[in-house]
Amino acid sequence: MKTAITELFGIEHPIIQGGMHYVGFAELAAAVSNAGGLGIITGLTQKTPELLAKEIARCRDMTDKPFGVNLTFLPTFAAPPYPEYIAAIVEGGVKAVETAGRSPEQYMPALKAAGIKVIHKCTSVRHSLKAERIGCDAVSVDGFECGGHPGEDDIPNMILLPRAAEELKIPFVASGGMADGRSLVAALALGAAGMNMGTRFIATKEAPVHQNVKEALVAASELDTRLIMRTLRNTERVLMNSSVERLLKVEHEKGDKLKIDDIFAEVAGVYPKVMTEGLMDAGAWSCGMVAGLIHDIPTVKELIDRIMAQAEDIIRNRLMGFLEGTSTRKVA
Ligand SMILES: Cc1cc2nc3c(=O)[nH]c(=O)nc-3n(C[C@H](O)[C@H](O)[C@H](O)COP(=O)(O)O)c2cc1C
Repeated sequence: MKTAITELFGIEHPIIQGGMHYVGFAELAAAVSNAGGLGIITGLTQKTPELLAKEIARCRDMTDKPFGVNLTFLPTFAAPPYPEYIAAIVEGGVKAVETAGRSPEQYMPALKAAGIKVIHKCTSVRHSLKAERIGCDAVSVDGFECGGHPGEDDIPNMILLPRAAEELKIPFVASGGMADGRSLVAALALGAAGMNMGTRFIATKEAPVHQNVKEALVAASELDTRLIMRTLRNTERVLMNSSVERLLKVEHEKGDKLKIDDIFAEVAGVYPKVMTEGLMDAGAWSCGMVAGLIHDIPTVKELIDRIMAQAEDIIRNRLMGFLEGTSTRKVA
């Protein structure tokens, strides 16, 4: 399949693996890129720019296909040395960067000077337009369904994607709630040139996370995520567990007076405990509603091949069949 996104990044399939803290290591990024998508290393999971440089080199050993690095500009307790992370990306020869959180405006000159394609992840049309204005090459439009930070507007992809299509000139991918060939065809129909997946890629053989995490995703339904940190305007969609239950109780009691310190134990330093040690109740960790569509743990290649085969079948047989009056099959 050829779209503006496959052409922009030089990849075979219009499928991107979004940056994920303590998930987006070289093993997953390389597996996605080897399967024809765009794999992404999560920059800030590497504690220093030197470690990111090593992770990029490790990924290059595992694939000769294009891959990218995610740089997240979220409110953190101590700002990381972003210029040095960017230097590691540039020196590592990486040609794609996924930015997220605050606007990457101040870093655009350095990224563009190195010939890097920048895809900024946004949860609104206005932020997408800003990304276009400051020179981003593409946008990842992240709907309310998404795992991680859906922003504060609460617009699901059924509305957000066609709105983005109405306003944007640069290409965009649909992010949030994407899992299979149905998602891809729907995303293309709504104006996107591909899709970005987070949660779905965690439940794959190559995702370098504890087996408990993968099994929790298979066991979870679309009803099992919760939004936390709303009153702090740092909303995050996470999988329900006993820590989240406790956190929500504190949020309910404190209301608008909630401070980050009140929930520090449930949100700080959680990812290594969950992703590496498999302690599923250690705290709040990002997960999308798409958990309801995850029923197995395939290899990344099986997943991507299956998505592309299903998308092609839907377009050629189901949709063309409707036009020709011959399609009666349902897709499930
Ligand atoms: C466990 C987890 C960790 C994530 N960490 C990050 C991150 O560090 N930076 C970022 O930009 N997005 C992060 N995301 C968001 C994903 O890149 C992606 O935008 C999102 O998962 C898409 O929604 P989906 O989960 O419904 O596919 C994370 C998502 C998950 C599930």
